Amino acid sequence: MLMRRLTPENGKADLAEAYAYPPDLDGPWVRANMVASADGAATWEGRSGGLGGEADRHLFQFLRGLADVIVVGAGTVRAEGYGPARPDASWEGLRVGRPGTPAIAIVSRSLDLDFTAPIFTAAAPDARTIVLTVRDADPDRLRAAREHAEVITVGRAGCDFAPAFARLAEMGHRRVLCEGGPHLLAQVAAAGALDELCLTVSPVLASGDAPRVLNGTALPPAGRLRLAHVIEDSDDEGFLFLRYVRSR
Ligand SMILES: NC(=O)c1ccc[n+]([C@@H]2O[C@H](COP(=O)([O-])OP(=O)(O)OC[C@H]3O[C@@H](n4cnc5c(N)ncnc54)[C@H](OP(=O)(O)O)[C@@H]3O)[C@@H](O)[C@H]2O)c1
Repeated sequence: MLMRRLTPENGKADLAEAYAYPPDLDGPWVRANMVASADGAATWEGRSGGLGGEADRHLFQFLRGLADVIVVGAGTVRAEGYGPARPDASWEGLRVGRPGTPAIAIVSRSLDLDFTAPIFTAAAPDARTIVLTVRDADPDRLRAAREHAEVITVGRAGCDFAPAFARLAEMGHRRVLCEGGPHLLAQVAAAGALDELCLTVSPVLASGDAPRVLNGTALPPAGRLRLAHVIEDSDDEGFLFLRYVRSR
């Protein structure tokens, strides 16, 4: 068995090229971006921020600039106090012909969401926040959601992700960026709807009982992933940026 050592080329990674969505998409392409510690934890003291670094935050923002919509679970919205996406200096030239920011789409069954929070009240008019929920959601909360967001209902007990992403694509949101959390991402993968995983490996050990980046729902026998690239941060902080694409 011949094994290859990946050595730094000392060349600047062209992130726009490395992370370009497939061209001419006629349906959704679902990319997830997650960070994990070297021992696989997706959280540190209940949040992901403690696992990140400067380069990770840069890539997080850059991937937002490439996306039409950011899909996130309500658990992450509540834990991380999500607001609307804000333009970033790294986005120059990335959003020509598109709204200045991607919309945020929150997945929630309970609709236990604060509709007076900036994520609903401060979103740009051309990037209104979207709520993906179930047909049997509480009628009062559904009414409140409809007052403050675009609402898509798909599925009964839980959102069905293939039709949910198809609906987003019909709205022009084909380049999907899923920012987790782990419970949502496991369901998206189990539905066969995850095309790509961008995984930041953070050079820390977390131990404890933190979840992995996919957590909960078991997956059917897995389709393999293809490693599309490995990028390391240039400040020698020790972060690795892996991009896996689903083999078809
Ligand atoms: N390492 C990373 O990159 C990363 C990324 C994101 C988040 N995180 C961390 O992960 C934690 C949160 O993740 P989590 O796994 O607990 O929560 P999550 O996946 O963000 O959200 C789970 C919630 O999403 C909704 N949901 C999920 N599947 C659904 C379906 N099929 N239909 C309808 N609604 C559905 C439900 O909301 P309702 O309860 O409202 O019904 C559910 O409680 C936080 O600690 C956060 O900091 C880490």
